[in-house]
Amino acid sequence: MLKFWNSSVGKKVVMALTGLVLVGFVIGHMAGNLQIFAGPERYNAYARLLQHDIIELTWAVRVALFVSVVLHALSAWQLTRRSWAARPVEYAMQEAQVSTYASRTMRWGGVFLFVFLILHIGQFTLGWKWLLPEYVPDGAYGNVVLAFGRPLWVVVYLVAMFFLMLHLLHGTWAVLRTLGVAKNAAEPLQRQLPLIIAVVVTVGFSLVPLGVALGVVR
Ligand code: HEM
Repeated sequence: MLKFWNSSVGKKVVMALTGLVLVGFVIGHMAGNLQIFAGPERYNAYARLLQHDIIELTWAVRVALFVSVVLHALSAWQLTRRSWAARPVEYAMQEAQVSTYASRTMRWGGVFLFVFLILHIGQFTLGWKWLLPEYVPDGAYGNVVLAFGRPLWVVVYLVAMFFLMLHLLHGTWAVLRTLGVAKNAAEPLQRQLPLIIAVVVTVGFSLVPLGVALGVVR
């Protein structure tokens, strides 16, 4: 087991499997969030379901997500250090050959998403007052409307969703490669499934701040 974890391939497999857990979560969370367009009763009932009625299940998911995020970030960090150690001297010429913009932003984009996640949980789940002074426990609908009533948060979330799209675009493709489902790496344009997942998740999430900003949700 330790041998597997210490190998670079082992870390890639850990990244792939934990990444799959996280992709499953974002798809479910995005779909759940769209219920905001069905009105406050529906959205708050959904939040109540997660926070009270099935709280044991929610905690199981929280633990799985926490473990996944930690292992995902840890293996990314260790692989990055190995890659830097293997090439301590910068290349004289940095011209991308087959990499995509999405693949080149995985590391810093991932760090940005991690910071976003902390702020997001602080804002909507933990109710940190400096992020949302009017936070009301068990008032998910009102909290979201208040937060996105401020242009700053609309912009922060839309930028975060853009990075999420890039991360998903490369990540959901890389997972297929790591687990050996996609055999051919040479054709970067043939990535329909990753493209669909990345665009649907990003657009779905973005509709919420946009819906509030445009006055559709209020
Ligand atoms: C516009 C986009 C989003 C909206 C409107 C939104 C909304 C919310 C709300 C209202 C909660 C609190 C639920 C409650 O406590 O009642 C929440 C929790 C959470 N969100 Fe989001 N979310 C968005 C994007 C994301 C993204 C992109 C991620 C992950 C990358 C994410 C991960 C989480 C996590 C981990 C929790 C904590 C769940 C818990 O254990 O209570 N969210 N979100």
